Amino acid sequence: MTVGKIAVIGTGYVGLTSGACLASLGHQVVCGDVVPEKVASLSAGHVPILEDGLDALVAEGLASGNLSFVLGADVAVKGAKYIFLSLPTPDDGDGRADLSIVRAVAKQIGPLLEPGAIVITKSTVPVGTAKKLEKIIGREDVALVSNPEFLQEGTAVKNFMKPDRVVVGSSDLAAAREVGELYASLGAPLVVTSAESSEMIKYAANAFLAMKLSFVNSIAALAEEVGADIQEITRGMKDDPRIGDKFLKAGPGWGGSCFPKDTNALAAIADDHDIRFPLLDATVTANRQAKDRVVDKIRAAVGGDLEGKTVALWGLTFKAGTDDLRDSPALLISKLLAGEGALLRAYDPTVHEDLEASARNPEITVASDPHAAAEGADVIALLTEWPEFADIDLQKTAVSTGTRTIVDGRNMLSPEAVTAAGFTLIPLGRQP
Ligand code: UGA
Repeated sequence: MTVGKIAVIGTGYVGLTSGACLASLGHQVVCGDVVPEKVASLSAGHVPILEDGLDALVAEGLASGNLSFVLGADVAVKGAKYIFLSLPTPDDGDGRADLSIVRAVAKQIGPLLEPGAIVITKSTVPVGTAKKLEKIIGREDVALVSNPEFLQEGTAVKNFMKPDRVVVGSSDLAAAREVGELYASLGAPLVVTSAESSEMIKYAANAFLAMKLSFVNSIAALAEEVGADIQEITRGMKDDPRIGDKFLKAGPGWGGSCFPKDTNALAAIADDHDIRFPLLDATVTANRQAKDRVVDKIRAAVGGDLEGKTVALWGLTFKAGTDDLRDSPALLISKLLAGEGALLRAYDPTVHEDLEASARNPEITVASDPHAAAEGADVIALLTEWPEFADIDLQKTAVSTGTRTIVDGRNMLSPEAVTAAGFTLIPLGRQP
Protein backbone atom coordinates (compact mmCIF):
# COMPACT_ATOMS: atom_id res chain seq x y z
CA MET A 1 0.00 0.00 0.00
CA THR A 2 1.57 3.31 -0.98
CA VAL A 3 -0.17 6.51 0.00
CA GLY A 4 2.79 8.85 -0.26
CA LYS A 5 6.33 8.67 0.92
CA ILE A 6 6.98 8.89 4.66
CA ALA A 7 10.03 10.57 6.15
CA VAL A 8 10.97 9.91 9.77
CA ILE A 9 13.41 12.42 11.24
CA GLY A 10 15.40 11.02 14.16
CA THR A 11 16.21 7.33 14.59
CA GLY A 12 16.05 6.95 18.38
CA TYR A 13 13.77 4.40 20.10
CA VAL A 14 10.61 6.06 18.81
CA GLY A 15 11.72 7.07 15.32
CA LEU A 16 13.42 3.80 14.46
CA THR A 17 10.54 1.68 15.76
CA SER A 18 7.94 3.84 14.04
CA GLY A 19 9.88 3.89 10.76
CA ALA A 20 10.46 0.14 10.69
CA CYS A 21 6.84 -0.61 11.66
CA LEU A 22 5.38 1.81 9.09
CA ALA A 23 7.60 0.20 6.43
CA SER A 24 6.33 -3.24 7.44
CA LEU A 25 2.77 -1.98 6.89
CA GLY A 26 3.74 -1.44 3.26
CA HIS A 27 4.61 2.25 3.34
CA GLN A 28 7.68 3.70 1.68
CA VAL A 29 9.76 5.06 4.57
CA VAL A 30 13.00 7.05 4.60
CA CYS A 31 14.57 7.66 8.01
CA GLY A 32 16.93 10.60 8.40
CA ASP A 33 19.49 11.12 11.14
CA VAL A 34 22.40 13.50 11.64
CA VAL A 35 24.90 10.92 12.89
CA PRO A 36 26.77 9.47 9.87
CA GLU A 37 27.94 6.31 11.70
CA LYS A 38 24.39 5.57 12.81
CA VAL A 39 23.02 5.97 9.31
CA ALA A 40 25.75 3.70 7.90
CA SER A 41 25.24 1.06 10.52
CA LEU A 42 21.42 1.10 10.25
CA SER A 43 21.75 0.89 6.45
CA ALA A 44 23.77 -2.29 7.02
CA GLY A 45 20.97 -3.65 9.23
CA HIS A 46 22.63 -3.09 12.61
CA VAL A 47 20.09 -1.93 15.21
CA PRO A 48 21.88 -0.11 18.03
CA ILE A 49 19.18 -0.68 20.69
CA LEU A 50 17.68 -3.72 22.34
CA GLU A 51 14.05 -3.81 21.22
CA ASP A 52 12.25 -7.10 20.76
CA GLY A 53 11.49 -7.79 17.06
CA LEU A 54 13.09 -4.58 15.76
CA ASP A 55 16.16 -6.21 14.13
CA ALA A 56 13.90 -8.46 12.06
CA LEU A 57 11.67 -5.57 10.97
CA VAL A 58 14.64 -3.42 9.95
CA ALA A 59 16.13 -6.33 8.00
CA GLU A 60 12.78 -6.98 6.33
CA GLY A 61 12.32 -3.29 5.45
CA LEU A 62 15.82 -2.99 3.97
CA ALA A 63 15.35 -6.17 1.96
CA SER A 64 11.95 -5.13 0.58
CA GLY A 65 13.22 -1.66 -0.21
CA ASN A 66 10.42 -0.09 1.86
CA LEU A 67 12.89 1.21 4.46
CA SER A 68 16.04 3.22 3.96
CA PHE A 69 18.30 5.44 6.05
CA VAL A 70 19.82 8.71 4.89
CA LEU A 71 22.02 11.39 6.39
CA GLY A 72 20.18 14.61 7.20
CA ALA A 73 16.58 15.75 7.49
CA ASP A 74 16.92 17.72 4.24
CA VAL A 75 17.66 14.54 2.28
CA ALA A 76 14.93 12.52 4.05
CA VAL A 77 12.10 14.97 3.34
CA LYS A 78 12.73 15.08 -0.41
CA GLY A 79 9.45 14.09 -2.08
CA ALA A 80 7.85 13.10 1.23
CA LYS A 81 4.14 13.56 1.89
CA TYR A 82 4.30 12.72 5.62
CA ILE A 83 7.16 13.88 7.81
CA PHE A 84 7.33 12.43 11.32
CA LEU A 85 9.49 14.34 13.79
CA SER A 86 10.92 11.89 16.35
CA LEU A 87 13.56 14.13 17.79
CA PRO A 88 15.00 14.44 21.28
CA THR A 89 13.18 16.83 23.62
CA PRO A 90 15.45 16.71 26.68
CA ASP A 91 14.80 18.38 30.00
CA ASP A 92 16.05 21.97 29.69
CA GLY A 93 17.39 21.79 33.25
CA ASP A 94 14.34 23.58 34.56
CA GLY A 95 11.87 20.71 34.11
CA ARG A 96 10.66 22.00 30.75
CA ALA A 97 11.06 20.13 27.45
CA ASP A 98 13.86 21.67 25.40
CA LEU A 99 12.48 22.15 21.91
CA SER A 100 15.57 23.60 20.28
CA ILE A 101 16.29 20.52 18.14
CA VAL A 102 12.66 20.24 16.98
CA ARG A 103 12.60 23.95 16.16
CA ALA A 104 15.89 23.84 14.26
CA VAL A 105 14.76 20.88 12.14
CA ALA A 106 11.40 22.55 11.38
CA LYS A 107 13.29 25.63 10.24
CA GLN A 108 15.65 23.55 8.12
CA ILE A 109 12.98 21.49 6.34
CA GLY A 110 10.28 24.19 5.99
CA PRO A 111 11.39 25.52 2.58
CA LEU A 112 12.13 22.00 1.28
CA LEU A 113 8.68 20.48 1.86
CA GLU A 114 6.43 19.41 -0.99
CA PRO A 115 3.16 21.35 -1.34
CA GLY A 116 0.49 19.43 0.63
CA ALA A 117 3.04 17.81 2.97
CA ILE A 118 1.99 17.01 6.54
CA VAL A 119 4.49 17.45 9.37
CA ILE A 120 3.73 15.20 12.33
CA THR A 121 5.09 15.55 15.85
CA LYS A 122 5.77 12.09 17.27
CA SER A 123 8.09 13.06 20.12
CA THR A 124 6.40 14.19 23.32
CA VAL A 125 6.19 17.95 23.00
CA PRO A 126 4.66 20.70 25.16
CA VAL A 127 1.17 21.89 24.45
CA GLY A 128 1.23 24.52 21.74
CA THR A 129 4.17 23.03 19.85
CA ALA A 130 2.17 22.20 16.70
CA LYS A 131 1.07 25.85 16.54
CA LYS A 132 4.63 27.07 17.08
CA LEU A 133 5.98 24.79 14.36
CA GLU A 134 3.26 25.96 12.00
CA LYS A 135 4.67 29.46 12.41
CA ILE A 136 8.29 28.36 12.06
CA ILE A 137 7.55 26.41 8.89
CA GLY A 138 5.39 29.31 7.72
CA ARG A 139 3.72 27.54 4.83
CA GLU A 140 -0.01 27.73 4.02
CA ASP A 141 0.28 24.52 2.01
CA VAL A 142 1.78 22.42 4.83
CA ALA A 143 -0.31 21.02 7.71
CA LEU A 144 0.88 20.22 11.25
CA VAL A 145 -0.47 17.15 13.08
CA SER A 146 0.27 15.87 16.56
CA ASN A 147 0.40 12.05 16.70
CA PRO A 148 1.84 11.02 20.08
CA GLU A 149 3.38 7.60 20.54
CA PHE A 150 2.40 5.17 23.26
CA LEU A 151 5.29 2.75 22.84
CA GLN A 152 6.82 1.03 25.84
CA GLU A 153 10.49 0.23 25.52
CA GLY A 154 11.01 -3.51 25.23
CA THR A 155 7.57 -4.08 23.70
CA ALA A 156 7.55 -1.11 21.32
CA VAL A 157 7.09 -3.15 18.14
CA LYS A 158 4.16 -5.03 19.67
CA ASN A 159 2.65 -1.76 20.96
CA PHE A 160 2.98 -0.18 17.51
CA MET A 161 1.40 -3.12 15.70
CA LYS A 162 -1.43 -3.57 18.21
CA PRO A 163 -2.18 -0.07 19.46
CA ASP A 164 -4.93 0.54 22.02
CA ARG A 165 -5.71 3.69 20.10
CA VAL A 166 -4.22 6.08 17.55
CA VAL A 167 -4.41 9.75 18.51
CA VAL A 168 -4.17 12.47 15.88
CA GLY A 169 -4.73 16.14 16.59
CA SER A 170 -4.64 19.20 14.39
CA SER A 171 -6.35 22.45 13.54
CA ASP A 172 -6.67 20.81 10.11
CA LEU A 173 -8.92 17.82 10.85
CA ALA A 174 -8.68 16.45 7.32
CA ALA A 175 -4.89 16.29 7.67
CA ALA A 176 -5.29 14.61 11.08
CA ARG A 177 -7.59 11.96 9.59
CA GLU A 178 -5.15 11.43 6.72
CA VAL A 179 -2.38 10.67 9.21
CA GLY A 180 -4.78 8.32 11.00
CA GLU A 181 -5.22 6.48 7.69
CA LEU A 182 -1.55 5.47 7.76
CA TYR A 183 -2.46 3.17 10.67
CA ALA A 184 -5.82 2.02 9.22
CA SER A 185 -4.71 -1.58 8.70
CA LEU A 186 -4.02 -1.92 12.45
CA GLY A 187 -7.73 -1.63 13.24
CA ALA A 188 -7.28 0.53 16.36
CA PRO A 189 -9.79 3.18 17.43
CA LEU A 190 -8.86 6.55 15.94
CA VAL A 191 -9.13 9.53 18.27
CA VAL A 192 -9.23 12.81 16.34
CA THR A 193 -8.78 15.96 18.41
CA SER A 194 -7.37 19.45 18.34
CA ALA A 195 -3.57 19.67 18.33
CA GLU A 196 -3.61 20.97 21.92
CA SER A 197 -5.71 18.06 23.20
CA SER A 198 -3.54 15.55 21.39
CA GLU A 199 -0.39 17.04 22.91
CA MET A 200 -2.03 16.96 26.35
CA ILE A 201 -3.24 13.36 25.93
CA LYS A 202 0.35 12.13 25.90
CA TYR A 203 1.31 14.00 29.07
CA ALA A 204 -1.92 13.09 30.82
CA ALA A 205 -1.54 9.39 29.97
CA ASN A 206 2.08 9.18 31.17
CA ALA A 207 1.42 11.24 34.31
CA PHE A 208 -1.62 9.11 35.14
CA LEU A 209 0.41 5.89 34.85
CA ALA A 210 3.21 7.40 36.97
CA MET A 211 0.59 8.43 39.55
CA LYS A 212 -0.80 4.89 39.61
CA LEU A 213 2.67 3.50 40.31
CA SER A 214 3.42 6.09 42.99
CA PHE A 215 0.09 5.23 44.61
CA VAL A 216 0.90 1.51 44.61
CA ASN A 217 4.39 2.15 46.01
CA SER A 218 2.92 4.27 48.82
CA ILE A 219 0.34 1.55 49.60
CA ALA A 220 3.26 -0.93 49.65
CA ALA A 221 5.06 1.20 52.25
CA LEU A 222 1.93 1.27 54.39
CA ALA A 223 1.33 -2.45 53.90
CA GLU A 224 4.68 -3.20 55.52
CA GLU A 225 3.72 -1.21 58.60
CA VAL A 226 0.21 -2.62 59.08
CA GLY A 227 1.14 -6.26 58.50
CA ALA A 228 -0.41 -6.50 55.01
CA ASP A 229 1.00 -7.73 51.70
CA ILE A 230 1.05 -5.53 48.57
CA GLN A 231 0.71 -8.53 46.27
CA GLU A 232 -2.43 -9.68 48.07
CA ILE A 233 -3.75 -6.11 48.06
CA THR A 234 -3.28 -5.60 44.32
CA ARG A 235 -4.71 -9.08 43.66
CA GLY A 236 -7.85 -7.89 45.38
CA MET A 237 -7.93 -4.62 43.42
CA LYS A 238 -7.12 -5.65 39.87
CA ASP A 239 -10.38 -7.35 38.86
CA ASP A 240 -12.30 -4.12 39.29
CA PRO A 241 -12.32 -2.93 35.66
CA ARG A 242 -12.24 0.66 36.88
CA ILE A 243 -8.79 -0.08 38.33
CA GLY A 244 -7.45 -2.75 35.96
CA ASP A 245 -4.57 -5.16 36.38
CA LYS A 246 -1.75 -3.14 34.79
CA PHE A 247 0.82 -0.95 36.49
CA LEU A 248 0.12 -2.34 39.94
CA LYS A 249 3.55 -3.86 40.62
CA ALA A 250 5.37 -2.21 43.50
CA GLY A 251 9.02 -1.48 42.79
CA PRO A 252 11.94 0.85 43.47
CA GLY A 253 10.08 3.73 41.82
CA TRP A 254 9.48 4.47 38.17
CA GLY A 255 12.17 5.67 35.80
CA GLY A 256 13.16 5.64 32.15
CA SER A 257 13.34 8.29 29.50
CA CYS A 258 9.67 9.25 29.66
CA PHE A 259 7.89 9.30 33.03
CA PRO A 260 10.45 11.43 34.92
CA LYS A 261 10.80 13.92 32.05
CA ASP A 262 7.10 14.05 31.24
CA THR A 263 5.87 14.47 34.81
CA ASN A 264 8.33 17.35 35.27
CA ALA A 265 7.32 18.90 31.96
CA LEU A 266 3.61 18.65 32.82
CA ALA A 267 4.27 20.23 36.21
CA ALA A 268 6.09 23.07 34.42
CA ILE A 269 3.16 23.51 32.01
CA ALA A 270 0.75 23.70 34.97
CA ASP A 271 3.05 26.16 36.70
CA ASP A 272 3.30 28.34 33.59
CA HIS A 273 -0.50 28.55 33.58
CA ASP A 274 -0.83 29.17 37.34
CA ILE A 275 -2.64 25.87 37.85
CA ARG A 276 -1.91 24.12 41.13
CA PHE A 277 -1.49 20.39 40.55
CA PRO A 278 -0.61 18.92 43.97
CA LEU A 279 -1.40 15.38 42.83
CA LEU A 280 1.35 15.59 40.22
CA ASP A 281 3.82 17.04 42.72
CA ALA A 282 2.97 14.23 45.14
CA THR A 283 3.43 11.65 42.36
CA VAL A 284 7.00 12.86 41.88
CA THR A 285 7.72 13.12 45.62
CA ALA A 286 6.35 9.62 46.28
CA ASN A 287 8.65 8.30 43.56
CA ARG A 288 11.68 9.73 45.34
CA GLN A 289 10.46 8.18 48.57
CA ALA A 290 10.15 4.78 46.89
CA LYS A 291 13.87 4.89 46.07
CA ASP A 292 14.78 6.17 49.53
CA ARG A 293 12.87 3.27 51.08
CA VAL A 294 14.93 0.75 49.10
CA VAL A 295 18.11 2.49 50.27
CA ASP A 296 16.80 2.35 53.88
CA LYS A 297 16.25 -1.40 53.55
CA ILE A 298 19.74 -1.95 52.11
CA ARG A 299 21.32 0.19 54.86
CA ALA A 300 19.38 -1.64 57.57
CA ALA A 301 20.44 -4.98 56.09
CA VAL A 302 24.14 -4.13 56.61
CA GLY A 303 23.62 -2.96 60.17
CA GLY A 304 22.86 0.72 59.67
CA ASP A 305 26.11 2.02 58.15
CA LEU A 306 26.95 1.63 54.46
CA GLU A 307 30.52 2.97 54.68
CA GLY A 308 32.88 0.41 53.13
CA LYS A 309 30.10 -2.17 52.66
CA THR A 310 29.76 -4.00 49.35
CA VAL A 311 26.30 -4.03 47.82
CA ALA A 312 25.60 -6.47 45.00
CA LEU A 313 23.09 -5.03 42.57
CA TRP A 314 21.04 -7.37 40.43
CA GLY A 315 19.78 -5.29 37.54
CA LEU A 316 20.69 -1.78 36.38
CA THR A 317 18.33 -0.93 33.51
CA PHE A 318 15.16 1.02 34.32
CA LYS A 319 13.08 -2.05 33.62
CA ALA A 320 13.53 -5.47 32.07
CA GLY A 321 13.54 -5.98 28.30
CA THR A 322 15.59 -2.90 27.50
CA ASP A 323 19.23 -1.84 27.67
CA ASP A 324 18.20 1.69 28.55
CA LEU A 325 19.76 3.16 31.69
CA ARG A 326 18.23 6.62 31.43
CA ASP A 327 16.83 7.70 34.79
CA SER A 328 17.00 4.12 35.99
CA PRO A 329 15.87 3.71 39.61
CA ALA A 330 18.75 1.23 40.05
CA LEU A 331 21.29 3.88 39.06
CA LEU A 332 19.70 6.55 41.23
CA ILE A 333 19.71 4.13 44.17
CA SER A 334 23.36 3.35 43.36
CA LYS A 335 24.24 7.03 43.59
CA LEU A 336 22.56 7.29 47.01
CA LEU A 337 24.37 4.17 48.24
CA ALA A 338 27.73 5.38 46.89
CA GLY A 339 27.09 8.73 48.58
CA GLU A 340 27.03 6.87 51.90
CA GLY A 341 30.33 5.12 51.15
CA ALA A 342 29.04 1.80 49.80
CA LEU A 343 31.00 -0.15 47.18
CA LEU A 344 28.82 -1.35 44.33
CA ARG A 345 29.14 -4.45 42.21
CA ALA A 346 26.41 -4.97 39.65
CA TYR A 347 25.16 -7.52 37.19
CA ASP A 348 22.69 -6.76 34.42
CA PRO A 349 22.19 -8.97 31.36
CA THR A 350 22.45 -5.98 29.00
CA VAL A 351 25.12 -3.92 30.70
CA HIS A 352 28.74 -4.76 30.13
CA GLU A 353 32.04 -3.84 31.64
CA ASP A 354 32.35 -0.57 29.75
CA LEU A 355 29.89 1.01 32.17
CA GLU A 356 32.65 0.92 34.75
CA ALA A 357 34.83 3.07 32.55
CA SER A 358 32.02 5.42 31.72
CA ALA A 359 32.33 8.72 33.49
CA ARG A 360 28.63 8.56 34.31
CA ASN A 361 28.76 5.69 36.75
CA PRO A 362 32.33 5.35 37.99
CA GLU A 363 31.10 4.05 41.34
CA ILE A 364 29.78 0.78 39.90
CA THR A 365 31.90 -2.24 39.03
CA VAL A 366 30.14 -4.49 36.52
CA ALA A 367 30.33 -8.25 37.00
CA SER A 368 29.77 -10.85 34.31
CA ASP A 369 27.11 -12.83 36.16
CA PRO A 370 24.89 -12.44 39.23
CA HIS A 371 26.94 -14.84 41.35
CA ALA A 372 30.16 -12.94 40.60
CA ALA A 373 28.40 -9.69 41.54
CA ALA A 374 27.38 -11.24 44.87
CA GLU A 375 30.84 -12.61 45.71
CA GLY A 376 31.82 -11.46 49.18
CA ALA A 377 28.99 -8.89 49.19
CA ASP A 378 27.44 -7.59 52.40
CA VAL A 379 23.96 -7.50 50.92
CA ILE A 380 22.28 -8.33 47.60
CA ALA A 381 19.68 -5.94 46.16
CA LEU A 382 17.48 -7.01 43.26
CA LEU A 383 16.45 -3.84 41.43
CA THR A 384 15.37 -4.72 37.87
CA GLU A 385 12.80 -7.40 37.08
CA TRP A 386 14.86 -9.47 34.62
CA PRO A 387 13.10 -12.86 34.35
CA GLU A 388 16.39 -14.72 34.90
CA PHE A 389 16.47 -13.50 38.50
CA ALA A 390 13.23 -15.35 39.27
CA ASP A 391 14.97 -18.65 38.45
CA ILE A 392 18.38 -17.84 39.83
CA ASP A 393 20.28 -20.68 41.47
CA LEU A 394 20.45 -19.24 44.99
CA GLN A 395 22.29 -22.31 46.29
CA LYS A 396 25.13 -21.34 43.94
CA THR A 397 24.98 -17.72 45.09
CA ALA A 398 25.08 -18.87 48.72
CA VAL A 399 28.47 -20.54 48.23
CA SER A 400 30.36 -17.41 47.21
CA THR A 401 28.58 -14.51 48.81
CA GLY A 402 29.43 -12.99 52.14
CA THR A 403 25.86 -12.11 52.97
CA ARG A 404 22.74 -13.89 54.06
CA THR A 405 20.38 -11.05 53.13
CA ILE A 406 18.63 -10.25 49.89
CA VAL A 407 16.60 -7.06 49.44
CA ASP A 408 14.08 -7.89 46.73
CA GLY A 409 13.09 -4.52 45.25
CA ARG A 410 10.76 -6.13 42.69
CA ASN A 411 9.18 -8.95 44.75
CA MET A 412 10.45 -11.49 42.24
CA LEU A 413 12.09 -14.12 44.36
CA SER A 414 10.20 -17.01 45.87
CA PRO A 415 10.36 -16.63 49.67
CA GLU A 416 10.60 -20.43 49.96
CA ALA A 417 13.59 -20.66 47.57
CA VAL A 418 15.34 -17.79 49.36
CA THR A 419 14.83 -19.37 52.77
CA ALA A 420 15.83 -22.82 51.49
CA ALA A 421 19.14 -21.37 50.27
CA GLY A 422 19.77 -19.95 53.73
CA PHE A 423 19.07 -16.29 53.00
CA THR A 424 16.86 -13.77 54.76
CA LEU A 425 14.48 -12.07 52.34
CA ILE A 426 13.61 -8.40 52.68
CA PRO A 427 10.72 -7.85 50.28
CA LEU A 428 8.82 -4.72 49.33
CA GLY A 429 5.39 -4.05 50.78
CA ARG A 430 5.25 -7.49 52.33
CA GLN A 431 6.23 -9.04 55.60
CA PRO A 432 9.80 -10.47 55.74
C1 UGA B 1 6.22 4.80 29.06
C2 UGA B 1 4.73 4.55 28.78
O1 UGA B 1 4.31 3.35 29.42
C3 UGA B 1 4.45 4.47 27.29
O2 UGA B 1 3.05 4.32 27.05
C4 UGA B 1 4.95 5.76 26.62
O3 UGA B 1 4.75 5.75 25.23
C5 UGA B 1 6.43 5.93 26.90
O4 UGA B 1 6.63 5.98 28.33
C6 UGA B 1 6.88 7.21 26.27
O5 UGA B 1 6.43 8.28 26.69
O6 UGA B 1 7.60 7.16 25.26
P1 UGA B 1 8.44 3.27 29.12
O7 UGA B 1 9.20 4.51 29.48
O8 UGA B 1 9.00 2.36 28.10
O9 UGA B 1 6.95 3.65 28.59
O10 UGA B 1 8.28 2.49 30.47
P2 UGA B 1 7.10 1.73 31.27
O11 UGA B 1 6.97 0.34 30.80
O12 UGA B 1 5.88 2.54 31.30
O13 UGA B 1 7.75 1.67 32.72
C7 UGA B 1 8.09 2.88 33.42
C8 UGA B 1 8.62 2.57 34.80
O14 UGA B 1 7.58 2.04 35.63
C9 UGA B 1 9.74 1.53 34.83
O15 UGA B 1 10.75 1.99 35.70
C10 UGA B 1 9.07 0.28 35.35
O16 UGA B 1 9.92 -0.60 36.01
C11 UGA B 1 8.03 0.88 36.29
N1 UGA B 1 6.88 -0.02 36.54
C12 UGA B 1 6.00 -0.31 35.54
C13 UGA B 1 6.68 -0.52 37.80
O17 UGA B 1 7.45 -0.25 38.75
N2 UGA B 1 5.59 -1.33 38.04
C14 UGA B 1 4.71 -1.63 37.06
O18 UGA B 1 3.70 -2.37 37.36
C15 UGA B 1 4.90 -1.12 35.78
